[in-house]
Amino acid sequence: MRKKSRIAILTGGGDCPGINAVIRAVAKKAFHEKNMEVIGIEDGYHGLLNKRWRTLDDKDVSGILTLGGTILGTSKTANPYHYAVKKGNKLEFRDLSKVAIQNLNHLGLSCLVCIGGDGTLGIAYQLFKDGIPIVGLPKTIDNDLRGTDITFGFNSAVSIATEGIDRIHTTAESLHRIMIVEVMGHKAGWIALYSGVAGGGDIILIPEIPYDIQAIAEKIKERNRKGKRFSIVVVAEGAKPKGGDIVIQRIVKESSDPIRLGGVGFVLGKQIEKTTGVETRTVVMGHVLRGGSPTSFDRILATGLGTRAVDMIEDNDFGAMVGVKGNSFVTVSLKEVSKGPKLVPLNHPMIKAARSLETCFGDYPPSSPLN
Ligand code: F6P
Repeated sequence: MRKKSRIAILTGGGDCPGINAVIRAVAKKAFHEKNMEVIGIEDGYHGLLNKRWRTLDDKDVSGILTLGGTILGTSKTANPYHYAVKKGNKLEFRDLSKVAIQNLNHLGLSCLVCIGGDGTLGIAYQLFKDGIPIVGLPKTIDNDLRGTDITFGFNSAVSIATEGIDRIHTTAESLHRIMIVEVMGHKAGWIALYSGVAGGGDIILIPEIPYDIQAIAEKIKERNRKGKRFSIVVVAEGAKPKGGDIVIQRIVKESSDPIRLGGVGFVLGKQIEKTTGVETRTVVMGHVLRGGSPTSFDRILATGLGTRAVDMIEDNDFGAMVGVKGNSFVTVSLKEVSKGPKLVPLNHPMIKAARSLETCFGDYPPSSPLN
């Protein structure tokens, strides 16, 4: 009898809504259509290095479609090629990739399915170059992954942020305040742009368009002159002033990507209140955007992507990720995916659409004589 082929699934980086839906899709198709054995590696590359894994069966992946987080656990710091080890009070970085590769070979896998963003998939690409058959799946609320129009988790995060902005609207209007809503997104402005448009933000600030405090103040004053006594500012955590820098919340020394952003909303709040004289409050949506059940859109996307990944395994289409282009699933090389973040292009149609509704992006629009 032909030996059952065995695959493993690993989730790396930040959790997000839809990971369990994608694990379910990969595992169910692998069990029922392909008669494969499925191993779940715990806590991302940590589990791989420490031999923490378990065999998954149908019961493990039933009832998880709507569940937030990841049943496998994840890690934002474990990188086998640059692994932080504590030596007294100091941290040392070691290349433990040989251990990871040995452990994978010991499992006798026909494929390792890596679910992650650019960090996790960058490591996956290195493992692929070192001989491991890999298929990647595009996960991040930030939507900043190259090679795909959309990542799962993004739609859920935008929906949560939009609901937050809607709720902030009523209190801003009642108290005639400026309310700033800070959203995640890392160095890209996708969440701020989409939730800002969906929530009717008056000012949307994204890292790709450095802001000018005077332009923001003028916009607020103009709204006040028109009798609109409140304003909503949606700001991406990675937004920065013209000629200035991002606001860093903390440095995670163990991480290969150590900078954690956050707090620009508070800096901006003080500046706006001082410049306009209008009372201002800041709300940081933060990790709320990563929590809870995925939207129906993300469940559908995760299911399509996950099942497509199993077809790629069967076709020996390794060193690649399943992506979305228009209405189709496509195969993109991990080399392309690991080339750095996908930022919002300045000619993005949603920026154009929002500008035509008088949304301010913290700059003087291209048509302005002041620009
Ligand atoms: O990449 C997902 C993300 O939520 C980013 O939007 C954010 O900058 C970062 O992770 C937060 O990281 P942590 O969970 O380590 O605070």
